[in-house]
This record gives sequence, C-alpha cells and structure tokens, in this order.
Amino acid sequence: MAFSHLASSLVLLTLTSSSLFFLQPHPTNADSLITCNFDRIYNFGDSLSDTGNLIREKPIGPTTAYARLPYGETFFKHTTGRCSNGRLMIDFIAQASGLPFLNPYLEKDADFKHGVNFAVAAAAALTTEDLAKMNVIDTLTNSSLAVQLDWMSKQCIIERGFDGETTQKACCGIGGDYNFDVTNMCSSEVPVCPDPNRFISWDGIHLTEAAYKRMAEWLIVDVVPKLQCCN
Ligand SMILES: *[C@@H]1O[C@H](CO)[C@@H](O)[C@H](O)[C@H]1NC(C)=O
Repeated sequence: MAFSHLASSLVLLTLTSSSLFFLQPHPTNADSLITCNFDRIYNFGDSLSDTGNLIREKPIGPTTAYARLPYGETFFKHTTGRCSNGRLMIDFIAQASGLPFLNPYLEKDADFKHGVNFAVAAAAALTTEDLAKMNVIDTLTNSSLAVQLDWMSKQCIIERGFDGETTQKACCGIGGDYNFDVTNMCSSEVPVCPDPNRFISWDGIHLTEAAYKRMAEWLIVDVVPKLQCCN
C-alpha cells in the first residue's frame, strides 16, 4: 500500500493481490482510516479486489461464475462481479476511510469521484506477451498490471479536465492521427482547436498552458517540498 499527494488531494493507492494473505492482520478500529482524510482510492489487483471489472470484459467475463449468484448473495443480494459472497478487503478499506465502495473502471458512466478500482479477477502482474514467452496463457483476462496502470493514466488525464480522446493530438496543427505534420506545423496558417484547455499537446512538440500548469502544480505541491529547501 502506498500513499501519495496528488495536487492537493490525498490519495490512497492500493495493490491488493494474493500476497496480502501473508500479512499478519492487526486488530483495528473499523473507522480508523477516517482521520487520514483520503479523498479517493485507486486500487490495482486481481480477484481479491475486483469489484466488477472481469464480468464486464466481453466475451469471456460475463460467462464466468462470478457474474451470477451465489456470488454476492450475503451482502449485496445480487452479483456485483466480486469473487466472494459479500464484501472484499478493498470494500472494508473504503468503508473505514468513510468513502463509498469503489466502482470498477469498466462500468460505463460510473461515479469515480472517490476513486477507481482497476483490479481484474485473474489478472497477472506480467503482461500477456511476457507470459506467452513462458508458454503461460491467461484464459480469463489480458488486463495485467501494466494494462491497469495504463487505465489509471487515462483516468488521471480525464480527471484533470483533458479530453481522453485527444491526449495524443496537437491542438494547433493538421494532418495524420496526431494532428501533426512536420512539413506543416502550427502557425497562423493552420487550424487551432476550439478549447486548448482540453488538450495536453499544443503543437505536437510543446505542451499547452493547461498541461504546464498541472505539471507545475504537481512540482510545487508534491515534489519541491520533499527537497526540504523551502519550508
Ligand atoms: C488476450 O489477447 C489475445 C491476443 O490479442 C487474444 O487472442 C485473447 O483472446 C485475449 N484473451 C482474453 C481472455 O481476452
């Protein structure tokens, strides 16, 4: 488990996987994380903490047993995609933090105000390609840890107000998949996007003011204080 300050919000990053079984639990007060004031939780992992991603991965996920009762029968009274009869550790961690249950990343239109769950049941830490080199095939999912981290990058881009569809495109430019042509770069002769604040790349080489502002905020709030030179 790692803690990180992102801009001014306090974020709990968790990786819940089978290795947690080897930790000795300490008896704790159920609300003990409230004082940490976490705004959101981002969780990565496998079936120990999947709250509904695998069952949304077509075509295989919806056909798995986790998409049907008796999974979910005890607490939710219906299936949620959790690989248990009720809540998981990540659910108790969310409750102890005073936060709602984490919605799965693959749930369309879900509320991600208090974090996202990227965990996918049966996910491996190694990528599908690396597993294949060792003749290992994951028959349930390709959503390895690398894929889950990629989802998190996309989610962060969207949460920072950028357009998730245009992250690689230049605002000022024309041509190709990236709105960029080295022989016809951004100039007064080239179209400019209507809202540069939604773009990361200004001209295909340099970033927009909005992107530089976010990066500076991160440096000012998170990185510079760790140098302990300007308290
Ligand atoms: C994983 O990816 C491979 C290659 O793209 C594909 O053939 C396979 O069906 C995928 N497996 C699952 C479980 O989605």
